[in-house]
Amino acid sequence: MSEQYNIRPMMISDIEQVLDVEKESFRMPWIRQAFINELVKNSFAHYLVASDQQRIIGYCGVWIAVDEAHITNIAVLSAYRNQGVGRSLLKAIIAQALNFGVKTLTLEVRESNSIAQHFYSVFGFQKTGVKKGYYTDNSEDAWIMSLTF
Ligand SMILES: CC(C)(COP(=O)(O)OP(=O)(O)OC[C@H]1O[C@@H](n2cnc3c(N)ncnc32)[C@H](O)[C@@H]1OP(=O)(O)O)[C@@H](O)C(=O)NCCC(=O)NCCS
Repeated sequence: MSEQYNIRPMMISDIEQVLDVEKESFRMPWIRQAFINELVKNSFAHYLVASDQQRIIGYCGVWIAVDEAHITNIAVLSAYRNQGVGRSLLKAIIAQALNFGVKTLTLEVRESNSIAQHFYSVFGFQKTGVKKGYYTDNSEDAWIMSLTF
């Protein structure tokens, strides 16, 4: 259980533990270098982690360009799911996007990932499109979900 955690910007030194979250959460997990590139080279990228006393328990990322933002990923360690950690992360990343004057937030989610679709819909995201065969591991479609302020 995660009684106490804080949300803060991701640092390079977090990446090892972020990879644990990533491997547990996705069929095509990002590798270390992808996170390094995001933190070091991509000036549009903003990444937050949720961290308790012991470890990183979740993370979320967004690319912000002028008034549009794209959520790249959000994941919580499975033992910590359904306790509000994802909600805290998404709230924090939306607040960050709003600070930059973002008007629209988009993301892609697997057609089969009904938990994440529901999670996003609680925040007001709506399905606004489909990318056919977007996921290369099984040719699954992606739903595009959007939130406009
Ligand atoms: C999606 C994910 C990040 C949600 O994080 P979480 O910490 O479990 O979510 P929270 O506990 O903050 O839940 C927030 C809301 O999401 C919904 N939700 C969360 N888990 C759910 C579940 N198992 N079934 C249905 N709805 C769920 C609920 O509406 C919940 O609100 P409520 O508590 O008022 O009912 C988490 O399930 C996860 O890491 N999944 C694997 C990675 C993934 O699929 N990421 C999305 C990629 S697009």
